[in-house]
Amino acid sequence: MHLEFGGVKAVDGLTFAVNEGDILSVIGPNGAGKTSAFNCITGFYKPTGGSVKLQGDDITGLRPSAIASRGVSRTFQNLRLFGELTVLDNVRAGMHVRLRQNALDALLHTPRFRRSEREATDEANRWLDFVGLRGDRDAAARNLPYGEQRRVEIARALARGPKLLLLDEPAAGLNHGEKVELLDLLHRIGELDVALVLIEHDMGLVMQVSRRIVVLNFGREIADGTPEEVRRDPAVLEAYLGKEDDADDATTKEMSHE
Ligand SMILES: Nc1ncnc2c1ncn2[C@@H]1O[C@H](COP(=O)(O)OP(=O)(O)OP(=O)(O)O)[C@@H](O)[C@H]1O
Ligand SMILES: [Mg+2]
Repeated sequence: MHLEFGGVKAVDGLTFAVNEGDILSVIGPNGAGKTSAFNCITGFYKPTGGSVKLQGDDITGLRPSAIASRGVSRTFQNLRLFGELTVLDNVRAGMHVRLRQNALDALLHTPRFRRSEREATDEANRWLDFVGLRGDRDAAARNLPYGEQRRVEIARALARGPKLLLLDEPAAGLNHGEKVELLDLLHRIGELDVALVLIEHDMGLVMQVSRRIVVLNFGREIADGTPEEVRRDPAVLEAYLGKEDDADDATTKEMSHE
């Protein structure tokens, strides 16, 4: 995959494949092109080269809504919830992509509509249980603590019933206890029929959860292997792990922003 902004090559040759049940991490220093790669996969950016295939179908350059409805869900590096909506409604909003409700049923509040609304609420509650949300589900999403909001965003992405789930720095801004719970959640997502791709700076988490790791540096893929292989790769050590302290600083900074 390739993506250019003006003359800047944000993504300059990234290739990976991921299957259901796999957990793959994309790592690399700040500005390496990780989020840009997610934006290409999800249709937010149009790649200037290469292709994105979902179960054999070419989805390159389709609109974000079209890509989402084919089963690609994501979360954002900077949380994007509907702050004024309740927690539950945020998750139900994720599901409306696939619940094909009849507009007339909705208008007339037919029994069929009410049943489907009830089922949607039950399912949203199950996903909130799955991510371990503790906060008030009827509260406006923006009133929840940051770590809880991140869980709501993951629940919303899961409620869409994705085949491919992309999480952009899910551990950013979380405290130690929340990171431990996130690790457990990621393992449980790995047991669903979902291909999981993670962008993450927290090396401890990446090394524990990933089956495979792809390393980007200045848009270029410099390594692709198991955590053990990547950990020992000299190019990775130079480009990334040598700067691990910086990455930790960045995470700390993000945390202090919250
Ligand atoms: N919309 C845009 N317009 C112009 N340049 C962009 C745009 N989005 C990203 N870039 C550039 O593309 C490069 C890759 O950015 P990207 O956000 O993908 O990095 P990243 O690996 O996600 O970094 P971080 O770890 O800090 O989130 C950077 O040089 C960035 O400035
Ligand atoms: Mg990013």
